[in-house]
Amino acid sequence: MRIDVLSIFPSYFDGLTLSLLGKARDSGLLELHVRDLREWTSDRHRTVDDTPYGGGAGMVMKPEPWGLALDELATGASAVPTIIFPSPAGEVFTQAKARELAAREHLIFGCGRYEGIDERVFDYAATIGEVRLISLGDYVLNGGEVATMAMIEAIGRLIPGVVGNPESLVEESHEDGLLEYPSYTKPSIWRDRAVPEVLLSGNHARIAAWRREQQLERTRTRRPDLLDG
Ligand code: ADE
Repeated sequence: MRIDVLSIFPSYFDGLTLSLLGKARDSGLLELHVRDLREWTSDRHRTVDDTPYGGGAGMVMKPEPWGLALDELATGASAVPTIIFPSPAGEVFTQAKARELAAREHLIFGCGRYEGIDERVFDYAATIGEVRLISLGDYVLNGGEVATMAMIEAIGRLIPGVVGNPESLVEESHEDGLLEYPSYTKPSIWRDRAVPEVLLSGNHARIAAWRREQQLERTRTRRPDLLDG
């Protein structure tokens, strides 16, 4: 998979070279390119924003650098890209969407800042690839960078071969629409707290039934919305 990121703060993404995703890059499963949007400016101040038409607070990202950047990233690409703009006004990101996006060949993340990006950029981007506005949740971040990192981590670990033991992907929260069951390790008693007896029983059927019940109970109490659908 190829992922391109456009941002005016490319150093945000230095952390993605660590750990799991670092390994994914080293092994060639994930090709990640982070580019500074200011590369596609031509004025002395490398301007990427301007005042909003119609007035109002804050600044809006100018369309020209975005247009040039998208043109360059799409040129010579082997697949039609999926172009993702993180936005609190987008569809909400879920594990199902991470899985869907992990199957794409080429993702481009466009990180907006300030009060947003000139609306015509989304329309133009749709002539180059499939445009998705995606929100991390119902709260506002200062820009798309942190949301993009979260999405790349969620998507990247689903690329086949990135997570060493694929079984660990199957049993985690949200993969079957439920929250994960609780986990314990040694010692069996720690600070007066004992590990549930069933887990020491060696009875795999009982353990599986107990874990399922725990998943249901946790989901009922913490995230009843997941059971409504
Ligand atoms: N940019 C600002 N807030 C955001 C959010 N909640 N999700 C994705 N991108 C954002």
